[in-house]
Amino acid sequence: MSIEQLQEIAQAMVAPGKGIIAIDESSNTIKKRFDAVGVENTEENRRQYREMLLTTPGLSDHISGAILYDETIRQSTRDGVPFTRVMMDAGMLPGIKVDKGPVPLAGFPGEVVTEGLDGLRQRLAEYVQLGARFAKWRAVITIGEDIPSSACIEANCHALARYAALCQEAGLVPMVEPEVLMDGDHDIEVCYDVTEATLRSLFASLYEQDVMLEGTILKASMVLPGKSCPEQASVEEVATETLRCLKSAVPAALTGIVFLSGGQTDEQATAHLDAMNRRGTQPWPLSFSYGRAMQQAALKLWAQDMQGNFAAAQKIVAQRARENGLAALGRWSKGV
Ligand code: 13P
Repeated sequence: MSIEQLQEIAQAMVAPGKGIIAIDESSNTIKKRFDAVGVENTEENRRQYREMLLTTPGLSDHISGAILYDETIRQSTRDGVPFTRVMMDAGMLPGIKVDKGPVPLAGFPGEVVTEGLDGLRQRLAEYVQLGARFAKWRAVITIGEDIPSSACIEANCHALARYAALCQEAGLVPMVEPEVLMDGDHDIEVCYDVTEATLRSLFASLYEQDVMLEGTILKASMVLPGKSCPEQASVEEVATETLRCLKSAVPAALTGIVFLSGGQTDEQATAHLDAMNRRGTQPWPLSFSYGRAMQQAALKLWAQDMQGNFAAAQKIVAQRARENGLAALGRWSKGV
């Protein structure tokens, strides 16, 4: 696939007023989400839940694509239509999570490195056959006493760059995700410094591995104080610091940036994205790739009566998509 074709896919992912729904929870992570609302974690329940999300009427008005998990990309609707077909027919791009999750980084207590490079070329080829157009890899950076180490940042960014190069070789747009976790009591300045150092290391690694930024999407965490920091930040402060950080570390050649929600409330995630887009044009489109902030309200309602609440839960998904789509344009306001 040529760089122009990759660029076309990347541009479609961040088309004006559109973003991504992340539904790529591993079977372990979805178990945590299902446990919290009393749903049994069976393959059929996961299938029904993802069918509810993906067949939401009008979803593609504000959603350009969805990140799927290995199990989900092979599943179909109750009527036997593959999820990837449902998505393509509605004009949404199928994406796939391809990392194998974080494991402890040897020699660096409290830090993790994401695995999954072994055999990745073969797995990517299969996902292309299954209809994937982009792929995601998540690296996790933890803030704590004396961490992150530069060894952790560099190991994770090197892996992200190796994965991104393999994606482009296979004809998939890489969505590179270095998530700086919100856990901890650090203040917003510490988050700024760690995020900036991580992004600088990431783009140095991408350059080293010859990854074409024109066919790449960054999935970024926002610059926020830690969840247990006594001093929380205003929406405007988060927007200012996040934009300052991105501008200092992300090359303008990159096609687009989407944010993860990372444990923010639905309203915070939407308000922060909206505030950034209200500041006017940036070097790249800024949109969303939310998991929890797209799903949590709908999951809660669906869990109460599953099939019985199928359509009502879809209305909530559509509403969250609409609100985040407006935020991607800087046109959201509370209660729209
Ligand atoms: P959250 O928006 O729930 O953080 O999930 C996004 C995601 O894909 C994390 O990898």
